[in-house]
Amino acid sequence: MAVTNRQQGNIGPAREQHREVTKLQELVYELKIEQVMKKEVITVSPDDSMRHLKEVLRLNRISGTPVLRDGELIGIISIEDLIKALEAGDIDARVGDRMTTNIQTIFADETIMQAVNTFARFGYGRLPVVNRQGELVGMLTQSDVARGLLRQLEIDYHEEEIHRYRASHIFEDIESDQTGLILRYRVEAKDFQRCGEAASKLKRALERLGAHPSLVRRIAVASYEAETNLVIHTDKGGEVIAEIQPRCIRIIAVDRGPGIPDVEKALQPGYSTAPDWIRELGFGAGMGLNNIQACADKMQLDSKPGIGTRLEIVIDM
Ligand SMILES: Nc1ncnc2c1ncn2[C@@H]1O[C@H](COP(=O)(O)OP(=O)(O)O)[C@@H](O)[C@H]1O
Ligand SMILES: [Mg+2]
Repeated sequence: MAVTNRQQGNIGPAREQHREVTKLQELVYELKIEQVMKKEVITVSPDDSMRHLKEVLRLNRISGTPVLRDGELIGIISIEDLIKALEAGDIDARVGDRMTTNIQTIFADETIMQAVNTFARFGYGRLPVVNRQGELVGMLTQSDVARGLLRQLEIDYHEEEIHRYRASHIFEDIESDQTGLILRYRVEAKDFQRCGEAASKLKRALERLGAHPSLVRRIAVASYEAETNLVIHTDKGGEVIAEIQPRCIRIIAVDRGPGIPDVEKALQPGYSTAPDWIRELGFGAGMGLNNIQACADKMQLDSKPGIGTRLEIVIDM
């Protein structure tokens, strides 16, 4: 980016030339290959047949594997080699005669950055990972890299979340003072653009108040589903009300119609009366009430056709 600036003769303040480094980029430099590679490596011997290799690849659902002689890495054999052997009618050939011996390896203590560059440079789908003594210690694919990065992002995010949570004490105060707090959100019927707003406002409020992240997550899911039902299934919308009490959070979703003719049926997984046009918007899988049940310690659904519906969700602290 700094180069572009210079080319345009646009020399701004020095700090504008610093590229913003995202969390992902930071991780790419920090994470080591050994943290994301597969450690259980399937190998074959040079004396195995290509027929045997075919079974190994099929059973393990892999597209290539290292070849070892007495524990030493001497080659790599892939599905392409197998196809070539098949085309040549040479399925009983030795792996040792068909493998690639010019192998690109990577060191376990190198960073993801180096792995990404190596993948880009050579275009291989997989790289054998060796330690500094040259022993094979793992295999690395591009999806191992992606999975490893995602996992680490999640771990870091969790730590940050817990850190933020410890910074606020209003929840503790509610408990020690035996007091309560009520938050109310109006939800409009068929307003899909704003569907989810009440739940995310409630979520943000709880975070700021210092609710535990796992509690926030359960409430967020339950209130999102409750809100969605008000949007999708009601005539006039309704209200989502959260009562924060010393021992529990109670979420109530109320509306004034049309009501549910058969509550038992509505609670069955996959049951939905959502019309096609709503399903096309990605709603109406019939799992909302079940998801709420999974998040809640208690759930009560009361409904009278023509009058309205009241859903009460209790989550203990
Ligand atoms: N507030 C409500 N008013 C009327 N019907 C409702 C309400 N909430 C749920 N229902 C009924 O219960 C059914 C199941 O709800 P749910 O499990 O959330 O699945 P979905 O919303 O995907 O249809 C809905 O299809 C609908 O018939
Ligand atoms: Mg629903």
